[in-house]
Amino acid sequence: MDRVLVLNGPNLGRLGVREPEIYGSATLADLREAVVRWGAALGLDVEARQTDDEAQLLAWLHEAVDARAHVVLNPAAFTHYSYAVRDAAAQVTTSGLLLVEVHLSNPAAREAFRSHSVVGAVATGTVAGFGFDSYRLALEAVGARLKSDEARP
Ligand code: DQA
Repeated sequence: MDRVLVLNGPNLGRLGVREPEIYGSATLADLREAVVRWGAALGLDVEARQTDDEAQLLAWLHEAVDARAHVVLNPAAFTHYSYAVRDAAAQVTTSGLLLVEVHLSNPAAREAFRSHSVVGAVATGTVAGFGFDSYRLALEAVGARLKSDEARP
């Protein structure tokens, strides 16, 4: 079964209490449960993690490369300024694995500093603005891409 690490960056552990008008009232535990369930329905072995620590996020991205796991990544605020997260994300995609950048909100419709992602250019693709469904759509995209790769002679 293909593995997918769903990695969440800083402040996403505060889902449910953090700006619910933007991020909704569901919690990180709810998100974890949903992504594992959606992954299982797609035949994907999904594990969800969250950290506020940039070094931890880098270590998990390195782990994904070494373990041949695809990645769904919400880099949160690191999206906008962390070249270290960008360089680690690039190692995932250049090693032939998929990395989908996701956002709950649509950063392009918010403050100007959120309109640029330093990660986007090295991601396989990006899904933003659909709340938890951004993760569902990302997992569906991973599942579809892996299926079409399998079908290739
Ligand atoms: C976010 C958007 C980022 O701009 C912000 O810093 C976050 C969450 C989102 O999921 O909408 O923490 O990545």
